[in-house]
Amino acid sequence: MKQFQKTSELQSYLKSSSKSIGFVPTMGALHEGHLALIKASKSTCELTVCSIFVNPTQFNDPTDFEKYPVTIAADLEKLEAEGCDVVFVPSVSEMYPSGTAQLKHYDLGFIETILEGKYRPGHFQGVCVVVDLLLQAVQPHKLFMGEKDYQQIAVVRKMLELTNSSIELVKCPTVRSGEGLALSSRNARLTEEQKEQALAIYRGFGLSSETEFKQSLLENGFESIDYVACVDPQTLQEKPVGEKPYLILVAAFIGSVRLIDNKTFA
Ligand code: PAJ
Repeated sequence: MKQFQKTSELQSYLKSSSKSIGFVPTMGALHEGHLALIKASKSTCELTVCSIFVNPTQFNDPTDFEKYPVTIAADLEKLEAEGCDVVFVPSVSEMYPSGTAQLKHYDLGFIETILEGKYRPGHFQGVCVVVDLLLQAVQPHKLFMGEKDYQQIAVVRKMLELTNSSIELVKCPTVRSGEGLALSSRNARLTEEQKEQALAIYRGFGLSSETEFKQSLLENGFESIDYVACVDPQTLQEKPVGEKPYLILVAAFIGSVRLIDNKTFA
């Protein structure tokens, strides 16, 4: 596996090959959810590139950024074992040579005003900025992203439209633990007891209203809830639970750890 820290070196390596490129952007602390994206890329692209970059511009909460798990040595081993071809591990100054004070703005419209956009102001602008920069560096044919971050996929699709990109966005299903907990890098910050409690999210998808879902989370150790929402999976406009197709999304805190998850009922 080739490893690059500099965009220029990554680009000259990639330009020397005429292979189809699949790209998996990550913030590291890799788990089976990330590795499923690598597998998906390897199954349809000749060369798979993964990036590991904890992007400061998408953290609206500085404590969340400081506490974000960093496990680079283990990450590289996992990528190597998975057969990833190239890993790009830029520094903050490599990604943002002119600093982070003045960034490009994306006109995302409605999608940025709801759910994660509402509770994490600026988050999706940061995601768009970094994914756009990474795509310029890698210039892949396909971009692989997880449905665990459902709204992020919709945001990136909009960003690709706004930038007239022809890159194909491939969405991959959420990987869960045997008991149903969506794998997440932030799970590393949960105690065993909290991981048990967090299963209330998966059980909650089966409840018949947002109110019951919220109540059940609060009864099972969640301290606060940003949202439990039922929306149309295409438009993300709110609709009643039970009227298929629908998508339930949740964001809630266990201790100081904010977990998000979602499930589609087609
Ligand atoms: P990160 O949280 O590291 O996630 C990287 C990719 O892995 C995202 O596409 C995410 O949806 C996917 N992923 C995470 N957990 C998953 C799971 N349990 N099952 C399937 N896929 C999963 O999302 C980001 O990083 C950043 O916002 C990024 C896009 C890299 C921009 O900085």
